[in-house]
Amino acid sequence: MEALTTPIGCKMLEIKDLTVEVEGKEIISDFNLCIERGEVHVLFGPNGCGKTTLLMTILGIPAYKVKKGDITFNGVDITDFPTNERVKLGMGMSFQHPPEIRGVKLGDMVNIALGRKGEKIDESVIELAKKLNISVDFLNRDVNLGFSGGEVKRSEILQLLAQAPSFLMFDEPDSGVDVENIELIGDLMNELMGRDEILSKRERSGLIITHSGFILNYIKPDRAHVMLNGRIACSGIPEEVAKHIMKEGFERCVKLCGAKVCAE
Ligand SMILES: Nc1ncnc2c1ncn2[C@@H]1O[C@H](COP(=O)(O)OP(=O)(O)O)[C@@H](O)[C@H]1O
Ligand SMILES: [Mg+2]
Repeated sequence: MEALTTPIGCKMLEIKDLTVEVEGKEIISDFNLCIERGEVHVLFGPNGCGKTTLLMTILGIPAYKVKKGDITFNGVDITDFPTNERVKLGMGMSFQHPPEIRGVKLGDMVNIALGRKGEKIDESVIELAKKLNISVDFLNRDVNLGFSGGEVKRSEILQLLAQAPSFLMFDEPDSGVDVENIELIGDLMNELMGRDEILSKRERSGLIITHSGFILNYIKPDRAHVMLNGRIACSGIPEEVAKHIMKEGFERCVKLCGAKVCAE
């Protein structure tokens, strides 16, 4: 299946009335979200409100059961598509807690993402890894086995660089990353999402989850949402929303935004 481009006038990602259960418990309820081609949205929310569940559902991870609603990607209803088909259509994700994979080297994963499964870890992989300060020794380590928090994030971004998806999801890209590497990660996220392109030429879109908002020192999203109890509670200008969250907390931010303090 070929990666699709968004027809003019069509949303890249459209989520309508989505209700999701995990282990028989409703985590996301009547959730709605629209992301246009070229847009980057940021989703804030307290621990446990359902942010990771949302991204896992968009990617079609089987434990996350859609009970109601639908997800449309580039005009195609993908609600029942398996994860591999969603990836082929252009979705990619940097996971908050990716699994350890014994016996599979990081360099092998990069090759798979480059569409060169089974090939040697050669100069093209090494060059890509250099962008993230990742050494050849590190490419030869088993994926995520004993990686530090920051190393996990860099390895996730490296795999996305190789995959080059058109819709990118980042689950807490700033958590556990040291100050030396956060700017690097921010720069590469901007590159991945085509933020250096002029507005009319932007083809890629993104959805960034952040608890701390730290990554917003490096990335300027188009729109922000606050998620509470499995729903979007308010939306607005990212700088405004972030400012209220940092000052007043999530619940109070929602009240302030409701009072049009975060209005566009
Ligand atoms: N596999 C699972 N089994 C049981 N409960 C889960 C599972 N995954 C998530 N949850 C629950 O769903 C809620 C939302 O989790 P999550 O989406 O990870 O929140 P967030 O990313 O916003 O911190 C939490 O109460 C969490 O314990
Ligand atoms: Mg999470």
